[in-house]
Amino acid sequence: MKKGIKTTLSLVLLICLVIGGILVYNNFFKDDATAVSSEVEKIMQEYNIDNDKYSKVLEYVLLNNIYNEEYLDQYADIEYVDIDNFASILTTFLPKGYSGKEINYITKLSDKNVDKLSNIDYVDISKYYNISNFDVDKIDRYNTYYENNDYTYDDVVTYVNIGMDLPVYTDTIEVSDPDSLLVLVNKYHYLPDGYEPDDLGYVPGAYGNNVPMRDVIVEPFKELQAAALEEIDVEFMPTTAYRGYSFQSTLYNRYVSEDGVEAADTYSARPGYSEHQTGLSIDLRNTALSSDIRLTDDNYEWLSNNAYRFGFIIRFPEDKTYITGYQFENWHIRYVGKDAAKIIYEEDLTLEEYIDLYVTEY
Ligand code: DAL
Ligand code: ZN
Repeated sequence: MKKGIKTTLSLVLLICLVIGGILVYNNFFKDDATAVSSEVEKIMQEYNIDNDKYSKVLEYVLLNNIYNEEYLDQYADIEYVDIDNFASILTTFLPKGYSGKEINYITKLSDKNVDKLSNIDYVDISKYYNISNFDVDKIDRYNTYYENNDYTYDDVVTYVNIGMDLPVYTDTIEVSDPDSLLVLVNKYHYLPDGYEPDDLGYVPGAYGNNVPMRDVIVEPFKELQAAALEEIDVEFMPTTAYRGYSFQSTLYNRYVSEDGVEAADTYSARPGYSEHQTGLSIDLRNTALSSDIRLTDDNYEWLSNNAYRFGFIIRFPEDKTYITGYQFENWHIRYVGKDAAKIIYEEDLTLEEYIDLYVTEY
């Protein structure tokens, strides 16, 4: 008797489990076709579409009157995304020849990029999926640069965005934000004619002079100096910081007459193209050294690992000359603010890369 009750209970339990399982299956895994509302089912019948073709995007195009039989098989591959331009992405890019799978990546592009892509014929963008700083306008340049170099697609995108595939000092761009603490001045970007910062402050310099620099960086710089004195007993003194256009012009021309243009360009900026003109760069010297060397390796070791704490970066690092366009300068620091400096330091970036990856919107 006892045994009989047990068996009955087990059987009931088993039946419950089976029924429960079926219910769960039906709720979570049932075929999409059974989810078709009667309205959609009706439209599908009108268009002679099999029930097994049902997908959320098919429903979407049917209900929005943008169904096109030609793309019936593509709809199933497209994930529905709740974005304003979803319909226009479908009606623009399916006719251009993009597959459903490619559409899924187009829906992830910025509005700007979608707009640019909509103005050109089909291009294969599959190499650039998920590269956040991808710019549709530069796709041909990316492809060419990839073919001619040994870089990953991520690096190719960044390097081409920076302009590294183009000759320096050609088709240069005037900077629009010369007062910004993140202003980028290099061989591709020059300062507006006559630019000088209107908030110059002064710091005692290495040669008894007063060195001008942007007032906003005076305090951070003094903090850096104090920390160096306390932590490694070194006095980092500025030799120059802000240099006006004509000062830079004199310097550059002197280097050219001594060394020739090609060599001068590796270590001196042409007038208008020097970051010193922004007042945000400082050249340092350890005044205890009597030699030609501005900083010892140990001094640089500390500087390169600590400058970011005060909002400064090493602007021309040793292993990045192919990006910055200048030879290693262990003495040249640039103020960018603490947040940017920390990222640049931790991710081992140049200012060029940082601006491209973190500031520019594509
Ligand atoms: N030495 C740096 C590159 C300049 O001239 O601005
Ligand atoms: Zn410098």
